[in-house]
Amino acid sequence: MKNMSMNINFTGQTAVVFGAGRGIGQAIAFELAKAGATVYVADLLQGNCEQVKKELIEAGFNAEAVAVDVSDYEQVDAVLAKAEKETNRLDIVINNAGIVCLSSFIDAEAEEIDRLIKVNMIGANNGCQAALKRMIPYNHGKIVNTASFAGRRALQAGFAHYGMTKAGVIYLTQAAAYAGADYNINVNSVCPGIIRSDMWEKILDSYEATGQDREASWKNSLKKFIPLGRGDQKAEDIAYTVMFLCSPYADHITGQAINVDGGASMD
Ligand SMILES: NC(=O)c1ccc[n+]([C@@H]2O[C@H](COP(=O)([O-])OP(=O)(O)OC[C@H]3O[C@@H](n4cnc5c(N)ncnc54)[C@H](O)[C@@H]3O)[C@@H](O)[C@H]2O)c1
Repeated sequence: MKNMSMNINFTGQTAVVFGAGRGIGQAIAFELAKAGATVYVADLLQGNCEQVKKELIEAGFNAEAVAVDVSDYEQVDAVLAKAEKETNRLDIVINNAGIVCLSSFIDAEAEEIDRLIKVNMIGANNGCQAALKRMIPYNHGKIVNTASFAGRRALQAGFAHYGMTKAGVIYLTQAAAYAGADYNINVNSVCPGIIRSDMWEKILDSYEATGQDREASWKNSLKKFIPLGRGDQKAEDIAYTVMFLCSPYADHITGQAINVDGGASMD
């Protein structure tokens, strides 16, 4: 029997969280830091990165802030290189950066689709490839990508191409898991349901712009998609699953897409 009890401790480990400037990524950064990891807060929004770093340090944790556009492989690898150089290790990489596009399948413009693919799919791919290359020499590592319940099945207008990119994230997670399997590196994804982050406020803006009531739209979305539609799913709920996937308790889990969505997907 393994000599462990359920206690997650990342003291001495180095974690990089892409898309940690707010929302789900920020919550993941906080949970990893609380468990002792030195956390590199990486995001397109430099001001947000600095603010999250400041809050983490004020709370007594170890953190650094780095601006990055995840759609650019060189920038992603440079963040990992900095973390590795400064701490002499790289244990955890979270590819959480994402954007949403609300145009219908027919009306979405090529530029919007291109940016969605570059940030959501290529961004996660960049994080996986760069992390694998750097983790392989250590024969150790955990990578988690943020997908979505929208990547599980097509939803109605507004989530069409977003869901397409998240299905890509689920697929690339499996491909990366194969690539890491011989080197003791686990690669998984989490599929959140509906969390009222800035991303969802943007979705509600679009509903409001068509004359719908904001709060009624929020309640309807929960009711429509989420069996446990209590409306209280928080960014931390995703972070807890990420923590588990990064811990030794998940050493035998790889290539999975874990639904943390109040039952929206039951596969
Ligand atoms: N909120 C939800 O209901 C929900 C549901 C399913 C999946 N997700 C996914 O969870 C992840 C986090 O979403 P959130 O709800 O916290 O949204 P959010 O908009 O609050 O956070 C996304 C973060 O990613 C950053 N980002 C965007 N483009 C970037 C780029 N090119 N390079 C680096 N950083 C970039 C943003 O600046 C932001 O800090 C996303 O991948 C999203 O698709 C969210």
